[in-house]
Amino acid sequence: MQAKDLRKKYIDFFRSKGHTVIQSASLIPDNDPTVLFTTAGMHPLVPYLLGGKHPLGKRLTNVQKCIRTGDIDEVGDPVHLTFFEMLGNWSLGDYFKNEAIEFSFEFLTGKDNLNIPLDRLAVTVFAGDENAPFDQEAFDKWRSLGISEKRIAKCPKEDNWWGPAGQTGPCGPDTEMFYWTGPLPAPEIFDPKDRRWVEIWNDVFMQYNKTAEGKFEPLSQKNVDTGMGVERVTAILQGKDSCYLTELFAPLFAKLDELRGVPGIDASGRSRSERIVVEHIRAATFIMADGITPGKVDQAYVLRRLIRRAIREARKIGLTASFTDKMAKVVIDNYKDFYPELGAGEKAILEEFAREEQQFAETLEHGIKEFEKLIARVPEHIQNKVVSGKNAFYLYETFGFPLELTAEMAAEKGFTVDREGYEEAYAKHQELSRKGAEQKFKGGLSDHSEATAELHTATHLLHAALRKVLGEHVAQKGSNINAERLRFDFSHPDKMTQEQLDEVERLVNEAIAARTPIQCREMTVDEARAQSAIGLFGDKYGEKVRVYTMGSFSKEICGGPHAANTGDLGHFKIQKEESSSRGVRRIKAVLEK
Ligand code: ALA
Repeated sequence: MQAKDLRKKYIDFFRSKGHTVIQSASLIPDNDPTVLFTTAGMHPLVPYLLGGKHPLGKRLTNVQKCIRTGDIDEVGDPVHLTFFEMLGNWSLGDYFKNEAIEFSFEFLTGKDNLNIPLDRLAVTVFAGDENAPFDQEAFDKWRSLGISEKRIAKCPKEDNWWGPAGQTGPCGPDTEMFYWTGPLPAPEIFDPKDRRWVEIWNDVFMQYNKTAEGKFEPLSQKNVDTGMGVERVTAILQGKDSCYLTELFAPLFAKLDELRGVPGIDASGRSRSERIVVEHIRAATFIMADGITPGKVDQAYVLRRLIRRAIREARKIGLTASFTDKMAKVVIDNYKDFYPELGAGEKAILEEFAREEQQFAETLEHGIKEFEKLIARVPEHIQNKVVSGKNAFYLYETFGFPLELTAEMAAEKGFTVDREGYEEAYAKHQELSRKGAEQKFKGGLSDHSEATAELHTATHLLHAALRKVLGEHVAQKGSNINAERLRFDFSHPDKMTQEQLDEVERLVNEAIAARTPIQCREMTVDEARAQSAIGLFGDKYGEKVRVYTMGSFSKEICGGPHAANTGDLGHFKIQKEESSSRGVRRIKAVLEK
């Protein structure tokens, strides 16, 4: 079965079980200053897991693009990826453990579904601790479906608890499903430590909210959140022990061979460098398709790192000519049917790859010269020559030289690198950029002029007015502001009527006329929630968020910048209301002075 069949089967199955299909959200989270990338299908759904009403109902399913950078250094082995697709189904306060497990079982074993023999399956359930009890219900359910007791492992929190995605937010015990990849018959007793049992699906029973103080509070509704990795399961169903051996990567390796001028080799003989090149170019292409270009901070920096690492690895295997755009083209062709944003962005994406590659080629030359200067400063007679941590970090920071590159170059000259010193310098930098990232969130702003600050303030008023006129299901889906206009995407199933538009406009202008001073207060996520502030609560960095209050009209988590008084805004006028995507409307509006 190919990945495209797996996606289709999954979506069709859950549709047949009353789930509405939602689009993959962008890789770049909306209105969430605290995480750089969407890391799981549940991420865009956090407001609804916390009790907000989703316009498309209580049963949802999709294929979500995800980026996880935590394992970036592991990429290159046969299993790790930074970009992957996650199949998911959700119950927002609707069905719970029984049905979720029934659905999973039916999809895994059903003849028209994945048709996996029972003998190859095993599961884990949460063993229980001081926060939540042993998951007897999940255990009993699996037993009733025919999974032998010996194939159900009870595991502690490290293994059978998922979330929150950041430091706070929805989470809960989970039950994970495993597939036996070793020789048949599979062992009668399931040993989760045996790596031949590979996890293929995770059903999370989200019934707690982890607070900034580390407490687990029951959520107002019990949810189900599941995740199945497309790449991994595709490989397994094809009897392959690496996702790099599937059709998802084959055309990329073929292109790489062509560019290197080497004959196609047996896929299983691929090297670490080759895997890094194809993986990173794939991830970078998807990030660019969601509107990011390489740069110095946040997502832009991760993107740059991926591209530069790919280039460096390509050099190691003898590919020095420009290649990244050519590889990206293969990614686009491979995926654009399912992710139309790749096709739509093709021209810009390819140009950006070419530009970044050109720039890095120049940087590399400079960096190598700088490195040689550093080395030359160390007197000849010194024994145990060391490149200091500070210098290694300088090369990393200024020229994008990863530590290994510096270490490799150093070794060639008989030097070692002070890795500890490097880690220290790196940690210090991380701390600084973490603080910067917290303060810097711009909420979709393209600059910091007065005009954009005012339009940003107007966006808050618009958001609040929409919730008053249309209902509490309205949640921000996207925001883009330039000096001329604001653009606001929000969840709402229907086209707005003229009366509704007039009423929203009237409410915003009324709030402007009230000349309300705008207050900003820092508080914990919990305090913000207690005060019913709107905004995303997923919070990677924990403690503090900034909440902007405009009288009793609007209270929203945000990073600013804002006008000082609503009276500064002028006259608010909606220019257009249109569909943005399924279940999402878009308003463009201006401030007339
Ligand atoms: N959110 C869960 C996961 O990522 C399903 O595994």
